[in-house]
Amino acid sequence: MTLQWTPLTPRIGAQLHTTAAELLDGSHAQQIRDLLVERGVVIARGIGFDDEQQRAFTRTLGDLRVGRAKGRGDESGLLKVSMDRQVNPEYAEYFAGTFFWHIDGTYEAIPPFATVLSPRVLPPDGGQTEFANTYAAYEDLQEDEQRHLETLQAVHTMVATMYPAVPDARIEDFKVWMDYPQPTYPIVWQHKSGRKSLVLSTSVSHVLGVHPVDSRALLEGLMAHATADEYVYRHSWQLGDVLIWDNTGTMHRARPYDPDCDRVLHRFTLKGEEPIAAVTG
Ligand code: OGA
Ligand code: MN
Repeated sequence: MTLQWTPLTPRIGAQLHTTAAELLDGSHAQQIRDLLVERGVVIARGIGFDDEQQRAFTRTLGDLRVGRAKGRGDESGLLKVSMDRQVNPEYAEYFAGTFFWHIDGTYEAIPPFATVLSPRVLPPDGGQTEFANTYAAYEDLQEDEQRHLETLQAVHTMVATMYPAVPDARIEDFKVWMDYPQPTYPIVWQHKSGRKSLVLSTSVSHVLGVHPVDSRALLEGLMAHATADEYVYRHSWQLGDVLIWDNTGTMHRARPYDPDCDRVLHRFTLKGEEPIAAVTG
């Protein structure tokens, strides 16, 4: 049976019309992977997976990332997304950064392909998650701008990620952040699929070989373009939801909520399948 889906907005997002059993049996896995690349975000409502089911579903889509390293979850691959230190002290440490537009895992040689998120506890207001389609944002640029951006590279740092979120950071915080790798990536990613996307994230510190003022202007202009309403889908969570995003062709951010309220999302992540590659030729 073919998988039924409808667009969430014209430029980003697909809602599946399916059941938990159908998601678990893996028969739609290839189509869901294709939809992720085509639409950036895929959701299904009323699924109500428990952790084991969420993990099993994630595994139908690719190789599960497991391990205890920061942000990687436990041995089963489960990571609890929460700003509550009681729920996940390691994640809470970096939570402030998730309110800014970002790609996950820009400190790894191969950033994760996709993540499956499902809420367990929700606040009464706020706490939505937004996604911006960086394939569509690239494709809408003028051709001369596309060609120019394809020649540029940018440096990604943990300081760039965290300083806007923690403006009163102490020197000890900087020391920890400075220990992260500071990779340089092209601004335009040539994917295996043939699509190209903008590699933008709060982790971008500066454009290489460009005056700092021009670098800032360029990055701010690109970020404003890529997060314009037409490229953004805002997900208002309901218990039972399952949401998957292509981490390589979208950015995402959490929206604010009352920190005194609980909010816990359970997350499983798929290993990356390709490095951020420049456009050649
Ligand atoms: C993440 C993330 C956003 C949210 O899980 O990587 O950024 O809304 N989550 O909690
Ligand atoms: Mn994130």
